[in-house]
Amino acid sequence: MTVLVTGGAGFIGSNFVLDWLAQSDETVVNLDALTYAGNRRNLAALDGDARHVFVHGDVVDRALLDRLLAEHRPRAIVHFAAESHVDRSIHGPGAFMKTNVEGTFTLLEAARAHWSALEADAKSAFRFHHVSTDEVYGSLAADAPAFTETHPYEPNSPYSASKAASDHLVRAWHHTYGLPVLTSNCSNNYGPFHFPEKLIPLMIVNALAGKPLPIYGDGQQVRDWLYVGDHCSAIRAVLARGRVGETYNIGGWNEQTNKQIVHQVCALLDELRPSAEGPYARLITHVTDRPGHDRRYAIDARKIERELGWRPAETFASGIRKTVQWYLEHGDWVADVLSGGYRDWVATNYNAR
Ligand code: NAD
Ligand code: TYD
Repeated sequence: MTVLVTGGAGFIGSNFVLDWLAQSDETVVNLDALTYAGNRRNLAALDGDARHVFVHGDVVDRALLDRLLAEHRPRAIVHFAAESHVDRSIHGPGAFMKTNVEGTFTLLEAARAHWSALEADAKSAFRFHHVSTDEVYGSLAADAPAFTETHPYEPNSPYSASKAASDHLVRAWHHTYGLPVLTSNCSNNYGPFHFPEKLIPLMIVNALAGKPLPIYGDGQQVRDWLYVGDHCSAIRAVLARGRVGETYNIGGWNEQTNKQIVHQVCALLDELRPSAEGPYARLITHVTDRPGHDRRYAIDARKIERELGWRPAETFASGIRKTVQWYLEHGDWVADVLSGGYRDWVATNYNAR
């Protein structure tokens, strides 16, 4: 048996592929365009492992998708490939429409053609799992209940609008064509291989380099943080036992303000790699806010717990400690991703703030 994973060289996708092959011998065909966010190094532990077939290619390439599906006949597709960073979507939304909307459409059409031609047993067992975000639901007031699966879609950024569009396509392909889809909407992840354009790895990397820790606006925005390994176990649960056509919210029951997050990262670094210059929190700098910045996200993850028995294994304290330790032990990985185009992004996003 084989599964096709898209975007498996990115942050969550590479954690998913590594976890999958640590727990199963089922082959993974990993299709990734290796954008700035994709990194073959994340998968170095699988070099020479015949259970991992890496394919460098684009999800908008229909001919390639048809060829891969015909050749490998996967029993499932797990779709991670996306442009994923809100700030980049503000500076350049085009790539988000291309990959997140057109890419998901192209993958759905290729999956539909493949699935339609399967024999009855394989057809009913086939799954298309779409990995999405809580950001499609928009922003919550401070005292509002957390997002449930029936919360209205109110995306506010080009990123979340493109993910919302892709969720709607997935839903429509199920209702119209009967494609056996599953959708999961997850809160903010953190953990190993997280690209340092996102809050937590950026703060770790900047602090270690003695650079400013840029907090947008007042830093009172709230996110619900989940360790990436817990997201991977939730996806495995949904894929194995989720009801076709359903959506499942995935979250860590861990709402915190950005300021709280940054202070915890600084405190851990003070403990594990103290700086001769003094506490890392001295580097915190408030910068101009993100346009349209969503104030609060929070996930009500009771459905996946009730139906599939999933709960996160890590607390934030255990997950953030593992994460900081991972970055301290992987300076070579950090140095590699900080080279080249990363510097251009830092200039684009921070120089004018
Ligand atoms: P990422 O940006 O780290 O990785 C995305 C991967 O997709 C990269 O390897 C990139 O090379 C690949 N890719 C991009 N465009 C492609 C294309 N056209 N064809 C093939 N591959 C392409 O993203 P991530 O944080 O790992 O997120 C993965 C998925 O999870 C995304 O769909 C995202 O919306 C969703 N998600 C992320 C979070 C989070 O906190 N990071 C939370 C919830 C949901
Ligand atoms: P991010 O990691 O980009 O995830 P998302 O926008 O998808 O939630 O940002 C998390 C929060 O941290 C968000 O409220 C924006 C904020 N933030 C900063 O304050 N400073 C930064 O340099 C970055 C990248 C994010």
